[in-house]
Amino acid sequence: MKIARFSRIGFILAAAGSAVGLGNIWKFPYIAGEYGGGAFVLIYLLTVLLIGFSIMIAEMLIGYLGRRDTVTSFEELAPKHKPFWKLGGFQGLAGLFIMIFYSVVIGWIFNYIVTSLYFLPSSVKEAETIFTSMLHTDIMTQLIYHTLAFVLITYVLTKGIKGGIEKLNLFLMPTLMIILIGMFIYALTLDTFSQAVSFMFSADWSKIDSEAFVVAVGHAFFTLSLGMGAIMTYAASLEKDSNIVKSAFWVVFLDTTIAIVAGLMLFTFLYQYGSGPAKGPGLVFISLPAAFYEMGILGNIFAVLFFIALAFAGLTSSVSLVEPMVQYFIDRFNWNRLKASVAMGLFFYLFGIVALLSNIEGISAYLTWNEKNFFDWVDYITAAIMLPLGGLIMAVFVGFIIEKSRVEAVMRPQLKWAFEPWYFSLRYITPVAMLIVMLNLMGVVS
Ligand code: PFF
Repeated sequence: MKIARFSRIGFILAAAGSAVGLGNIWKFPYIAGEYGGGAFVLIYLLTVLLIGFSIMIAEMLIGYLGRRDTVTSFEELAPKHKPFWKLGGFQGLAGLFIMIFYSVVIGWIFNYIVTSLYFLPSSVKEAETIFTSMLHTDIMTQLIYHTLAFVLITYVLTKGIKGGIEKLNLFLMPTLMIILIGMFIYALTLDTFSQAVSFMFSADWSKIDSEAFVVAVGHAFFTLSLGMGAIMTYAASLEKDSNIVKSAFWVVFLDTTIAIVAGLMLFTFLYQYGSGPAKGPGLVFISLPAAFYEMGILGNIFAVLFFIALAFAGLTSSVSLVEPMVQYFIDRFNWNRLKASVAMGLFFYLFGIVALLSNIEGISAYLTWNEKNFFDWVDYITAAIMLPLGGLIMAVFVGFIIEKSRVEAVMRPQLKWAFEPWYFSLRYITPVAMLIVMLNLMGVVS
């Protein structure tokens, strides 16, 4: 079968586009805030370095060797027990689940792009009222923008790897980086910058309980797009002889840098305008607009640009969240791209409406279990459970299942002396670390 291939830079930008998403700019700052900053950030950074990077390479390798949709790649690369290992490929479903809330949040962002053009709240209090009333009462606005997100994402997917996904990333990613760097430079000039630095990097271990630990590790997977086959699906379209290690390095580097840059910038604004870091999921929608208000007309321009950057980050990740299952239906069931894209799009669109309703007053109670509503549960189950589990499956698959000679033939020339440590880490460090996460998770659940 003929597959369109990414160009070298196209692949790096698309994989980085997948990794850099709402996780970096919306989620990371608020969970770091919720779980107390420094120690949480440190656990996240250590996970990225010690586990994330090596799984990123492993996931790229499975795609590169398999060259097909995730299910077929697992099936073909397993020397025996193929029907069992092919289950690993169904991790791609996690992407569709993530999209259920992801698309709703992109909808909020679209709404904020439009309103920031002519209006900013004059205080954090006012901003909070506006955000919470949208979240808890305004079904129509959320529905309209969620629909817009669904249409845009599905449209890009129908255009395929080259004409859709690569093109989208080649334009959106550089623009997003320019906007963020510009705003970061502005934050550097404010005197609260140092407070933001100390919030993010001085560790207070007393804030870390098992839930914080699980969330930090889960976030490392989430932000790197690991464990659900997005990176694997993209890597199936790599040119032969591509350098996996270099690509993986760039993706991890860009993702981590952008999370830190965004976090420092946001916390600087939060300290500057007095609302403090712990604001929950509404952080960028509440404290930031109020901060921009203080800057007059320039604030409107900044706000619009910021939300555009956030939307871009979300859109480039969204296509990667849906593409694995699109590819699966194309490869395994011979669906054409249009049909596969629309069907997957409708899946997240319809469940997205349920997620949206689960925040609405009067309806929320019916969609809430154990203090988390449907929206929160989807987020929690995917990020804290499905992705780390998927990462574990991928590490074990490359570490133990694919013949070592096959792995070595591709990876030793690229990793050189680092091959053995990498292989060791996949075989032993990752599984043990994941076991610890799972045990903690039980502590959280029980
Ligand atoms: N990495 C994206 C983010 O940080 O927002 C989310 C994501 C995309 C997770 C793709 C998983 C994935 F496969």
